[in-house]
Amino acid sequence: MDSIIVTGNGPLSGQIPIAGAKNACLTLMPATLLSDEPLTLTNAPRLSDIRTMTTLLQSLGAEVQALNEGQVLALSSHALTSTRAEYDIVRKMRASILVLGPLLAKHGHAEVSLPGGCAIGARPVDLHLRALEAMGAELDLREGYVHAKAPAGGLKGGIVDFPLVSVGATENALMAATLAKGTTLIKNAAREPEIVDLARCLQKMGAQISGEGTSTIEVQGVETLGGATHRVVTDRIELGTYMLAPAIAGGEVECLGGTIELVQSFCETLDAAGISVEETPTGLKVSRKNGRVRAVDVTTEPFPGFPTDLQAQMMALLCTAEGTSVLEEKIFENRFMHAPELMRMGAQIDVHGGTAKVTGVDKLKGAPVMATDLRASVSLILAGLAAEGETVVNRVYHLDRGYEHVVRKLSGVGAKIERVRNE
Ligand code: EPZ
Repeated sequence: MDSIIVTGNGPLSGQIPIAGAKNACLTLMPATLLSDEPLTLTNAPRLSDIRTMTTLLQSLGAEVQALNEGQVLALSSHALTSTRAEYDIVRKMRASILVLGPLLAKHGHAEVSLPGGCAIGARPVDLHLRALEAMGAELDLREGYVHAKAPAGGLKGGIVDFPLVSVGATENALMAATLAKGTTLIKNAAREPEIVDLARCLQKMGAQISGEGTSTIEVQGVETLGGATHRVVTDRIELGTYMLAPAIAGGEVECLGGTIELVQSFCETLDAAGISVEETPTGLKVSRKNGRVRAVDVTTEPFPGFPTDLQAQMMALLCTAEGTSVLEEKIFENRFMHAPELMRMGAQIDVHGGTAKVTGVDKLKGAPVMATDLRASVSLILAGLAAEGETVVNRVYHLDRGYEHVVRKLSGVGAKIERVRNE
């Protein structure tokens, strides 16, 4: 198992290219199941989660080719052999549930393993199921699988009214509604840029969608969908993560491909903390010239609020801020597992339920720490950029799920970082 060793090495400078979004690609790939025509995704990120989705789609009989060193995905599902998503693949990645809506809409039936538990929270899929039931699906949960059946003639348009905002359930409902007979209204829909990116791709395939990016999405079902070529939107979470590198270590870094629009509320929080963010023709330039970071309070919310996927990284910044910050995690019930690891580095953090109080210290000290999930792992690397001495982050397989070339990207702006294999 690999570890990453980071040594505090002073201010950073240079450029970091931001890849296509994992969380967009993971919903764009299953969209191929809605059509017999080829779908080509460009600007695809090279991540283990994308490889897991590839394995899942191939297990159903879809063709998935990774071209151009994996940055282009050529997908086709014209000759599907199965509509059963096996537990062995689904247990590796919860986003596998995103094949359920498209399979049901296109083939009228599907068997998809339930994803099971997750480190950051219970993460049920009840809203996904209720959305499909609102389109006339019959669902039966048995032996750990969802057995889904569409009514005769296929899914029907309906009203999907989510009691709480869910990114995944909105994506499943949106994809299923494109082939449902009649009109579907998705109320209290998620507004994330990944949802807008999915809608854009589906529109290119011939879907009739309006209201994407707002809380109410309307879909007019069509008979069939065609093919398309679609560029995956920039990864706003990778973007936010690397924007925090110069904020934590000092210096100035330009994140290529970033736009304020993708990270508006995050930029407002950085501004309040004394970090300058400037839009350039090629990206976002972030700098912390002098002085200490100011303490700020953060509450995670669905888009356009502060993203939960940047909460751990933000906590790493606030560990050395001037004053006390309060972070409230409103999306997931167990997403502070990075806190005890940051405390091993000398941070002062008090966690009570969904609230963490971070009292800034002058400097963190390097230590061996353990990654517990994807975003927690990168927050420990960020903390190590400004810590005294060496930080050794273990279990970095979590990181590979959502970040490509971390060592190359950070050492490219002057960080002292390496990946080592433990025998
Ligand atoms: C997506 O997960 C992202 N994953 C997550 O990113 C992200 O944290 C999350 O959205 C919130 O922004 C992907 O896109 C692959 P939700 P998702 O459904 O769709 C509850 C990362 O680090 N809920 O919006 O699973 C749920 O438990 C990952 O890249 C139900 O109760 O999130 C949570 O509390 C981590 N029933 C809340 O809603 C349901 O049926 C929001 O979850 C569905 C969700």
